[in-house]
Amino acid sequence: MTSSSGEPWRVGVLFSKTGYMSVIEETQLRGTLLAIDELNEAGGINGRPIQPVVYDPSSEASAFGRYAKKLLIDDGISTIFGCYTSSSRKAVLPVVERLNGLLWYPTLYEGFEFSPNVIYTGAGPNQNSLELFRYLMETHGKRFYFIGSDYVYPRVSNRIMREFVRANSAQVVGERYVALRPNRAEFYDVMRDIRELRPDAIFSTVVGDGTVFLYQAYAECGFDPRTMPIASLTTTEAEVSAMGPDVGEGHVTAAPYFQGVESDQNHRFLRRWKKIYGDDFAANMCSEAAYFQVSLFAQALRATNSLETESLRPAVLGLNIDAPQGQISINPMCGHANLWARIGRVNRAGQFDIIRQSSAAVNADPYLVGYGRNLAFS
Ligand code: ACM
Repeated sequence: MTSSSGEPWRVGVLFSKTGYMSVIEETQLRGTLLAIDELNEAGGINGRPIQPVVYDPSSEASAFGRYAKKLLIDDGISTIFGCYTSSSRKAVLPVVERLNGLLWYPTLYEGFEFSPNVIYTGAGPNQNSLELFRYLMETHGKRFYFIGSDYVYPRVSNRIMREFVRANSAQVVGERYVALRPNRAEFYDVMRDIRELRPDAIFSTVVGDGTVFLYQAYAECGFDPRTMPIASLTTTEAEVSAMGPDVGEGHVTAAPYFQGVESDQNHRFLRRWKKIYGDDFAANMCSEAAYFQVSLFAQALRATNSLETESLRPAVLGLNIDAPQGQISINPMCGHANLWARIGRVNRAGQFDIIRQSSAAVNADPYLVGYGRNLAFS
């Protein structure tokens, strides 16, 4: 171990430890703190340790905005690692833009956004939705039921899915939104709808505790994932653990990372993760992005020796890193990460068997400009 003794680099960390989003945000908090610990054990950055200043916004989007302001104004911090929901990101956005902070956002999202004050390290629609849609069309059929939590991410994500559906002569047989702060009873209504409509797959963008209620209601109704899976962009190892692996078994998710990725870097990451958090607390795509984005930050800070957003952001653009998911980079055009595309199916142990994967990172294309109007699969 090397010691670092200089004045600390202070950074903000905003993930919920409490409330209905903590099931996933707590894992992002742990990914962030693990990466910071590792860097500090190795001597910090240019001889100075990283000091996280952590607040708990308790799953409330407006609290993210308030804490971001507190970090930037009262605490004199400019870099923030944080946010899961797109509503929390949208609450932080005007704050970092006005006060010239830098938000590192480690969550899949709907795309169609660019900010000079954000580095996006989660998947956009061309890296997850498109691959999931292709998989479902090829293996299950063309009739989809959309279910999402009622806020910006599921609504915009479904608008994009509808474009894929239209271009491929598929059909959306039903579309429902449940409260973001979930109520179990709503999911039984949804299941009645599904029993009547009999889609080929249920496309889910339900988040947080709602995910647990959705899969549990599905299991209680006796549906079979082999013939009508829940196909999700948001269900990770964390939600599967909360719902029970027997409940999640057979359902599919598209994500850049699953704990079962075979790579030396992932094995190293997991050894460390398990040593600190134990075997029962799995890593997932959101904690992995939270982890590797701190390494990107460290690489950039080593070069700039300054936390000023004007210096740091340009130093991040174009960086490559050997992340647990594989080689990734930050696309210099848009500040979003080029990430791997994978489809996983939940097994009895609550892990995902990887059933498809890209051969390399897929370029970030948050506005789907590379696809033009051509969204049809021949
Ligand atoms: C999300 O709200 N970006 C999952």
